Amino acid sequence: MRGPLLRLVLLGLALVSSAEPLLSPHVVHERRRSVPAGWTRTRRHASDAVLPLRFALAQQNIGSIDEYLLDVAHPESPNYGKHWTAGDVARKFAASEESIVTVLDWLEQGGIERGRARVSTTRGWVHVDATVEEAERLVNAEYHVYTHDTGKEHIACEAYHLPEHVTSHVDFVLPSVHFDAKLSRRSDTSESQPPLSTADQPAHNIGLPGVGISPKSGGKVTETVSEVEQCDEYITPICLRTLYGLDYTPVATDKNSYGIVEYTPQAYLWTDLQMFALNYSLDTLGKAPYMVSIDGGYPQTVNQSFDYNGESDLDLQYGMTLVTGAQTVTLYQTGDIIEGASFNNFLDALDGSYCTFEGGDDYTQDSIFPDPYPGGYKGPEDCGTVKPANVISTSYGYNEADLTPFYAERQCAEYAKLGLMGVTVLYSSGDDGVAGNGDLCLNPDGTQTANGTIFDPSFPGVCPYITSVGATQVKNNTSVYSPQPEMACMEVIYSGGGFSNYFPIPSYQEEAVSYYLENYPPDYPPTIWNATGKSRAFPDIAANGANYVVAIDGEFELVYGTSCSSPVSGAIFTMINDARLAAGKSTIGFINPTIYSSKFAGAFNDITEGTNPGCNTEGFNATPGWDPVTGLGTPNFPKLLAAWLELP
Ligand SMILES: *[C@@H]1O[C@H](CO)[C@@H](O)[C@H](O)[C@H]1NC(C)=O
Ligand SMILES: *[C@@H]1O[C@H](CO)[C@@H](O)[C@H](O)[C@H]1NC(C)=O
Ligand SMILES: *[C@@H]1O[C@H](CO)[C@@H](O)[C@H](O)[C@H]1NC(C)=O
Ligand SMILES: *[C@@H]1O[C@H](CO)[C@@H](O)[C@H](O)[C@H]1NC(C)=O
Ligand SMILES: *[C@@H]1O[C@H](CO)[C@@H](O)[C@H](O)[C@H]1NC(C)=O
Ligand SMILES: *[C@@H]1O[C@H](CO)[C@@H](O)[C@H](O)[C@H]1NC(C)=O
Repeated sequence: MRGPLLRLVLLGLALVSSAEPLLSPHVVHERRRSVPAGWTRTRRHASDAVLPLRFALAQQNIGSIDEYLLDVAHPESPNYGKHWTAGDVARKFAASEESIVTVLDWLEQGGIERGRARVSTTRGWVHVDATVEEAERLVNAEYHVYTHDTGKEHIACEAYHLPEHVTSHVDFVLPSVHFDAKLSRRSDTSESQPPLSTADQPAHNIGLPGVGISPKSGGKVTETVSEVEQCDEYITPICLRTLYGLDYTPVATDKNSYGIVEYTPQAYLWTDLQMFALNYSLDTLGKAPYMVSIDGGYPQTVNQSFDYNGESDLDLQYGMTLVTGAQTVTLYQTGDIIEGASFNNFLDALDGSYCTFEGGDDYTQDSIFPDPYPGGYKGPEDCGTVKPANVISTSYGYNEADLTPFYAERQCAEYAKLGLMGVTVLYSSGDDGVAGNGDLCLNPDGTQTANGTIFDPSFPGVCPYITSVGATQVKNNTSVYSPQPEMACMEVIYSGGGFSNYFPIPSYQEEAVSYYLENYPPDYPPTIWNATGKSRAFPDIAANGANYVVAIDGEFELVYGTSCSSPVSGAIFTMINDARLAAGKSTIGFINPTIYSSKFAGAFNDITEGTNPGCNTEGFNATPGWDPVTGLGTPNFPKLLAAWLELP
């Protein structure tokens, strides 16, 4: 099985025009094996149209990021917990002078005078407005206009080349083989199309209800639920406190923080938080999250339905309740009402060094601010303006195959930087078992369809620098007080899990994953999953994701999904940070090297029943030890607290 893109190191064609100065031979830099589903190549792009060409410069020292991160995150390291400042991170990874000069020199030789090329202030990018003709000559590509089934147009090429001596200095070029993987929720883009010169596409919106990882509704709750005896049918905060032993009153709340990320137009309703508080969480009554607006984000109230309010109401009701009313929860409301935003837009706000100048990172994936569309946010892009919370939970996601390896790797490294700064980053692992969002599976040519047969892992679940959270449920007719109350979630949703096709296995999970593969080898041909044992496996942990009672639009509804599991886990880790901060210790930061280590053996409740079906299979099995359904298991707060308090 292969991803949709191959980075070949074959020699490509020499430059088209013989009048050009002789440069080193061009080599293929990125190539797409197929056009994504729904898109058709329509016509050659006009040769005199202007393309905003952007060269993402290779970051310095990025190849050592794993080493740096383990140095502060591995429990055996003498530097455990000695996190870096944002400035340390920016300095360490800024593009080298050599990379900048190499790219500028090459552009100049290619006929782009120095004055036309701009280097971003963060030194991450070189930007040049070039005609299609110039661009095609520079990167030896053919730019076409592609049309989506919905009528939306996009400019791309299917392969491009760079001179051999430039390749190691450039991560990728935009626009190129990168497609808008998911569509903007606005289907009427033609009417509101802004007068952008080259103007192809509005950025897409990952917060789209139903395409990102969204919780699923199981209908309304009509009876009164308050009994811990009912946890197999209704999850309420008391069930989670009992299951995970979360009995803790925070004391270092002024030093601590917990951030929950929501993507507009997803929004919470104040009245829903109050309704939930009245029934289940009196100490959060009257409380709202502390909202940090990123790129014009605000909790819109114009449209109200499960799809608009379900995710945010769920995340905040459970997140706020479990950290208690004493600990303020930060809401990162990301993206404006028109374009929405992507994970990169959020990351830009946390880390200025990840930003680009004048707008989004990738015109095809990320939103542009100020928003060029009517009614959009006209303020400047948030770039290094937001201090990251100690724990950040996100319940949205892509499929790995939606993104190019370069795009995914670049973003993944950004999570490692947050880890270096002592931030714990959690993502829900997906709700479709071994299939991707929307139950899509991969085909041998890298496309994703409902009838594909190859497992389709989630992103950033496969990024080795985040903690991926799968879902469990209380077994039917089982008390939360029984010895093994939970199994993998098999009601309404299936826990996302499996093996990456892009990312190699990180050292911290090698032992756990090889134990699983040796003792419980999955009975599937290696043509439908990455059976090499050499790729990043996920999820890392799990938490309950079934039958949550959530107040949504004035009614209690049952909600399912790894969308539940991530904010609940985040709340638990936030309480551990509280205890560590109170003891004068650092935050727990990037937890994976710690939780897989022998010091933490038994600190998660091992889940050994259930599977995560998808792609016409039963999926993988939950087994003793780590497994690609529930990871290491669900949190056992007292054990985790004790183990983390023993670390420096
Ligand atoms: C399996 O994963 C590894 C590491 O992520 C990758 O190098 C390899 O190409 C993948 N295999 C397939 C068939 O995709
Ligand atoms: C919430 O509380 C009200 C008032 O006590 C009660 O009528 C209602 O049934 C409760 N809802 C749930 C889901 O427990
Ligand atoms: C709200 O719903 C209307 C009607 O369906 C739609 O046109 C509009 O774009 C929606 N607004 C948002 C913020 O999603
Ligand atoms: C799979 O579905 C696609 C449409 O999504 C269709 O074109 C194709 O023929 C189907 N393949 C098989 C083997 O059924
Ligand atoms: C548990 O009970 C629910 C509701 O009766 C049912 O839908 C589900 O299939 C049962 N799950 C298992 C694993 O038996
Ligand atoms: C629990 O067990 C009882 C009696 O065996 C059965 O009637 C009921 O459907 C079960 N509940 C679930 C949720 O499976």
